[in-house]
Amino acid sequence: MLHGMTPEETSPNREALALIGQQADHRDAEQSLLAAGWTPCGAGDWATALRSPDGTAAARISPFDPTGPYTAALYREAAHTRQVPELFAHQRLTGGGDLQLMEWLHPVPQPEAAAFHQAISTRSPEVADLVDVIRRVHALALEELPWCGPLDDNPSNVMRGADGRLVVADLFYADGPSLYATAAKDPDLVVARIPEPERRFMTEIPLAASGPWQPGEQDAMRAGLAAADARTTTA
Ligand SMILES: Nc1ncnc2c1ncn2[C@@H]1O[C@H](COP(=O)(O)OP(=O)(O)O)[C@@H](O)[C@H]1O
Ligand SMILES: [Mg+2]
Repeated sequence: MLHGMTPEETSPNREALALIGQQADHRDAEQSLLAAGWTPCGAGDWATALRSPDGTAAARISPFDPTGPYTAALYREAAHTRQVPELFAHQRLTGGGDLQLMEWLHPVPQPEAAAFHQAISTRSPEVADLVDVIRRVHALALEELPWCGPLDDNPSNVMRGADGRLVVADLFYADGPSLYATAAKDPDLVVARIPEPERRFMTEIPLAASGPWQPGEQDAMRAGLAAADARTTTA
């Protein structure tokens, strides 16, 4: 790396970002990376991940993730602890999606992951600085987002960097069960509280962990939200 350059300015990451225009949505971003040789490498409820051709980077792409900017803030503000993924770039995607370009990480055995989450929840000395940043950024997310969940202690979010250290990823999530139940039952409330450009693709999240989507569920929710949007413009 040249002196004075941040990781996001090094050439593989700059090239990856250049592929993705400022107006890209989650589909454009995924297509651009696939065409450049990136390969699918994982999926959760909110996002899918792709691995870079050289294997050193991962792109996390979500169609709808209100917590993405808070996650990016956590990765930046806690970078000095080395206990979060190294973030090469963050970009909001058109329609409310989110793109994070970060270091490639490996899964770790479940007990090791659970112990790391336990250290975080008890603010053990070795993670105290990290926990301070987590609490500060999470408090802001709880204050600013209409639906924000507690910290995600899913063991799959603790991973290992190529250098062997443990990191915690993807700690924040929108309160999906409540948000999606409301979208199904009372779409007008969701429409009133989340601007359309921030939730255009909310029925496209993968739901790979707690799903799958039931047949017809996405279409029905999309139609309900569209009808609620139409009521606000004609009201
Ligand atoms: N930096 C990374 N390196 C390798 N795989 C990753 C990385 N980030 C995410 N993944 C994979 O993508 C999956 C989903 O990412 P995650 O950020 O946990 O999204 P979700 O909000 O859907 O849980 C993870 O479980 C993991 O398999
Ligand atoms: Mg996750």
